[in-house]
Amino acid sequence: MPGITIIGSGRHVPGEPVTNEALARVMDTDDAWIRQRTGIQQRHFAPEGVGASDLAVEAARKAIASAGIEPGEIDYIIFATMTPDYAFPGPGGLLGSKLGIPGVPALDIRQQCAAMPFAFQVADGLIASGAASTILVVGAEAHAGFMPWEDWDVLAGTSEAEIPAAARDRATRHRGLAVIFGDGAGALVLRKHETPGHGLLGVQLHSDGAGARLIHIDGGGFRRRPHWAPWMVEQDMHIPRMEGRELFKQAVTRLPRVVRELCARHDVALDQVDWFVAHQANDRINDAVRQQLGVPAERVPSNIARYGNTSGATIPILVDELRQDGRLQPGQLVCFLALGAGLHWGSALMRV
Ligand code: UT7
Repeated sequence: MPGITIIGSGRHVPGEPVTNEALARVMDTDDAWIRQRTGIQQRHFAPEGVGASDLAVEAARKAIASAGIEPGEIDYIIFATMTPDYAFPGPGGLLGSKLGIPGVPALDIRQQCAAMPFAFQVADGLIASGAASTILVVGAEAHAGFMPWEDWDVLAGTSEAEIPAAARDRATRHRGLAVIFGDGAGALVLRKHETPGHGLLGVQLHSDGAGARLIHIDGGGFRRRPHWAPWMVEQDMHIPRMEGRELFKQAVTRLPRVVRELCARHDVALDQVDWFVAHQANDRINDAVRQQLGVPAERVPSNIARYGNTSGATIPILVDELRQDGRLQPGQLVCFLALGAGLHWGSALMRV
């Protein structure tokens, strides 16, 4: 039976872009460092009061329109985020009601930056089992809530107030993390492909909680009573702790391996893959992975310069760009690859 394919896509990023130079107003960093070490030139941040479900609804509406269907034809929602509107419930149900399709089952998944290969496997299984026929998969993130500064007006350039040294030092302590993340949403509408040998060919997934320490948010967890307290915010426990170098190493060793294994299992040579659609965490990660695989740069598209790392949203945003500008054509073979907090990582092969 053919697997799922992408019949619609959409993306949304909030507000005006925030440049690297703007970040330097609130912490010690500079444009050259951020560009050289990550490839990022700008990102967007969700305004106060705007959550992942709000970003998702905009992207989802566009995806549904691009699929040429009505919202009522969606019979399942899969929502991936690591920055939900509430600690619970997850935003999937909120998205359904905002789209005017209350009652449609919504599954919230928590695979962070690695969400899309996991979402594809779940969607494919739901469709193969007959439980659903048209699935909306959304990745949406509002990271602004964990950024290590309060001077949003200085960042935006609407105030020239002097930032207290302590506030600047605090933001600088978290700069490795603060410069890479950005907010946005990407949405895909998935249906079974009509042609045998097309659609999702296979997925290979891995999880290892031993790596959870490499990037996680300690505050707010339910091991503590109460699970949130002012001392946690005072100790910056609402801000993720990230061991950037170690995560980098994990990504550049695990991703080439999972891609090779998945392709070998499906008798796909790497040069038969038209596009390697990789999670956008850092251009240097994707360059290193690509070099290990011996794949030319033209087949590993990047858009991190404009959005930063939008976690669960990077892959659907990139897919939407590739579809909109005509690079991704029906019949092409796409290899998705991603690694994120958990650790979770994996790859998916899809002939779209
Ligand atoms: O998708 C979610 C998972 N996250 C990731 O995959 C992140 C993976 N890791 C990375 O992308 C990189 O490790 C980072 C971009 C986070 C950091 O880059 P790096 O090349 O690993 O830098 P580093 O942390 O080793 O720091 C090198 C130097 C340090 O200075 P010294 O000690 O050599 O003097 C840092 O203090 O760069 C300094 N530095 C900065 N300088 C200016 C770190 N961050 C910044 C900054 N601006 N934003």
